[in-house]
Parts: sequence; C-alpha cells; structure tokens
Amino acid sequence: MTTARITLDPAFTIAPVNRRLFGSFVEHMGRCVYTGIFEPGHPAADEHGFRTDVLELTRELGVEVVRYPGGNFVSGYRWEDGVGPVADRPTRLDLAWRQIETNRFGLHEFITWTRVAGVEPMMAVNLGTRGIQEACDLLEYANHPGGTYWSDLRIKHGAAEPYGIRLWCLGNELDGPWQVGHKTADEYGRLANETAKAMRLVDPDVELVLCGSSNSGMPTFGAWEATVLEHAYDAVDYISLHAYYEEKGDLAGFLASAVDMDRFIEAVVSTADHVAAKLRRRRKINLSFDEWNVWNQADFTDRAGSPYEEAPRLIEDTFTAAEAVVVGDFLITLLRHADRVTVACQAQLANIIAPIRTEPGGPAWRQTIFHPFALTSRHARGTVLRVEPTSPPLDTDRYGEVPRLSAVATRDDDGVTLLAVNRDPGEPLDLAADLRALGRPALDFALAIAEDDPHRVNERDAPARVVPRPLADLRVDGGTLHARLPAASWSLIRLTC
Ligand code: AHR
Repeated sequence: MTTARITLDPAFTIAPVNRRLFGSFVEHMGRCVYTGIFEPGHPAADEHGFRTDVLELTRELGVEVVRYPGGNFVSGYRWEDGVGPVADRPTRLDLAWRQIETNRFGLHEFITWTRVAGVEPMMAVNLGTRGIQEACDLLEYANHPGGTYWSDLRIKHGAAEPYGIRLWCLGNELDGPWQVGHKTADEYGRLANETAKAMRLVDPDVELVLCGSSNSGMPTFGAWEATVLEHAYDAVDYISLHAYYEEKGDLAGFLASAVDMDRFIEAVVSTADHVAAKLRRRRKINLSFDEWNVWNQADFTDRAGSPYEEAPRLIEDTFTAAEAVVVGDFLITLLRHADRVTVACQAQLANIIAPIRTEPGGPAWRQTIFHPFALTSRHARGTVLRVEPTSPPLDTDRYGEVPRLSAVATRDDDGVTLLAVNRDPGEPLDLAADLRALGRPALDFALAIAEDDPHRVNERDAPARVVPRPLADLRVDGGTLHARLPAASWSLIRLTC
C-alpha cells in the first residue's frame, strides 16, 4: 500500500469556480434533439414538446451552459430553416451525419428549452458552407432589440424580447478534413477574424470562440492554433479544444486519460501566450473546452454511404463505471485549470455519448457518467484551491509514468469539497490530506464511484447499478484526513469548516 498526500490551504487558490465549466452540448445529431430533449407526444412532454423527464435530469445534472446546434452539423446548417411557423419549415439533407432534418426544432425552440431548463445558450455559427453575412443576420435576429429586418422577423415569430445570447462559436472543427467546408488555418483564421469583427458591430457584448484543433492528435495541432490566433487574436475571447477518450482494451492507460487532457490544455495555453508575446498583447485568450467526453470511437461505423435517415441511432454508447471515473477526472482537470479554461461543454447531453439516455415513448435514465458530473457541479463551488498532490507513480503503456492520484479542492462559505481519483486499476490508494489550515473541519459526507467490476454499466432495465455510494474508509485525525481510495475510483469528500 502506498500513500498519496495533499494539503488543503485556503491561502493557495487557482481561480473562482466558473459555473460555465459545467456545460453540455445539444447537436442536431442522432437522437440528441429528436426523441432526446424534444419529443412531442411523449407521455412526459410539456406544451412545447420538451421531455420533462429529460428536463428534470438536466437540472439534476447541474448543467449551466449548453452549446447548440453543432458540432459537424452546424457546418452545413441554414439557421433560417429553424425559425418561424413550423409548418413552413423546409426538410433538408444534413450532410454531416447523413440525416433528414425536419427543422421542427430550431433556434426559437432551443432558446425556449434553455429558459425552461435554466441554462445559458451558447450558439455556433456556420463557417463551413456560409460566412460573415449569415452569421451577422443570425446575431441580428437573436440579439438586436427591434426595428430592423431580422430583429422584426424574430418579433413577428413571437419573441418580442431579444434572446441576449452572449457566447458564440465561430464555426466547428474547421481543421478537420471531414468537416463540410474544411479550411486551411490561413483560410479559417482570416474568415473567423472578419466574421468576429462584423459580429461585434452587430452586438459589442458577444464573447467569441475561435476554433482550435479537433483534437491534439491532428497533424496540424499547434501550428493551427498559432496561425488562427495570429489572424484573429484581437477579435476573439476564447480558443476551443475538443477531446474524446476511449479504453481500447487498456484500462490502466484509459484511467490516466486526464493526463493527456492536462497536457493538451497546457499546450494550448502556451501557444496562445506565445502568440500574445509575438503580437505584444497583454490581454490573455482563455480556453473553451467545448467538446470533451469518453467515446468508444472504435464502435462508431462511418456513415459514408449509409441511407439518409431521420433521427438515426448514432453513438449511443453505454458507459461503464471506469468511464465515470475518467469523466470525474476530466472535471478535476478542468477545475485545476480554472484560471484559463473558463468554458467547458461535456458532449453531448442526451443519447449521443451522453449522461442521459432515453427511449422514444419510454423512460429516461442516468448513465454512469451522470453521477460525477452532477456531484461535482453541485458541490464544487466558490474558489478552486491549489492542492499540489504528491503520489506514487503508476506505469502506463499509453502515457508512461503518471501520478496515481488526481485531486482538486474547492472552498465555499460553508466548507471544502475534495475531489480525488485513484487511477490505479488494481490497488487501493491511501490518501493523507493535511487540513491544519482549515481550522477545525468536520467530515460532512463522502461518496465514491468504485465498482468491483469496472465495466459494470447502467441500462434501461437496470438504471441504478452504478451509483455513488458512501466512501467507508475515512477519518479525520489530528488535522489530517485519512482516506482509502478504492482501485479505479472517483471520490467526493465534503468537509464543513
Ligand atoms: O460530438 C460529436 C461530434 O464530435 C461533433 O459533431 C464534432 O464536432 C466532433 O467531432
């Protein structure tokens, strides 16, 4: 048995907990929208056709911001198709996922849904097949008070008040050859810069996200970020990151996935700061990690050549306990970088590699990954503390030697929340947390996701096999918290002080 150590001291902080770190993503892909969040005729549907069972789970999940409408979908999307009387909306081909898009759900429905759900909308504009004018038209429709063609059209469509959408993505994954309207870094950087400048003329209060790489394995990774930032540094607020991880038969390496996420974030921060130095700018560009998750991509069959379908079942992965532990570790990593990562969206909310699964006409249930997200969102509040874990190393084939322990803590008015992952697939890990700087803390509760079978899953007929359970083995003794973290586990320990 080995011991890992951390110190919880409110004097050492990283940044406030930005609630926008608890974001999610709704794309017109598969059954995320249709029969996911929206299913008129479902027994639980409200007057808008929104599934209230999914709305309740969304609130329980603690989602704060939701990105929409894509994803790859947005790169061929005409936003005008999704506004106005539903009967007049065209049915189109969606080239990204080979879907039939009926446009029964569009911007107006999305904004209504965000208000019912109590989340902030984050919109993406199409910079694949479209450009500056259409982005400005959409922004004028959404945010201009009235008295112009597009804002008056919104009013005519029943929305007298502007939507007031602050967060906007300048396209999606345009570095990827699969993207409709794929571009070189120079092509995209120039287009994004000119679009951003024009959008700020329509509404100076928008916050704009420049597309970074689709993932850190792209051959253009690093160079893409440097080039697009050199074009658009002064016009944008954020650069995006996307990353998905899978087990691929290597549990030990998979449990260490957050090590890669950590390196990815640090590489993009360095690149953004390099461009700032080169351009002699003091204003920092922050990071929007607006797609992250676990995803068994090996199971995803390419859609090329498949027939066009309405709401096909796409990437409806059933997640394991190990995947929940990794998702918990991603949230720890995002919090540890809360000084630079100020928006993050787990992808996606319903059915598509999602924490919430549904059946058409049937139930909605919590996947394993639901639990670490919901608990972190609920209890990680206030300020992120710098805890500087030291732990015995763990050898992995995928990432070499990695720390066994991943941990972060947050401090709010009522106490401290400690989040910890034992990445070791085979052995428990003893944790000693020095609490002396907290005064006289008392243990409130401690929960863990820790299954003897790390591949256990939740399913429609067994939706609560994997749930957080009390972490049994812990005590506070002489200013030190002692906990035994089970193998391959995620834990949340709450202290009052
Ligand atoms: O989230 C699924 C897809 O993954 C998104 O459409 C795309 O942006 C990413 O490659």
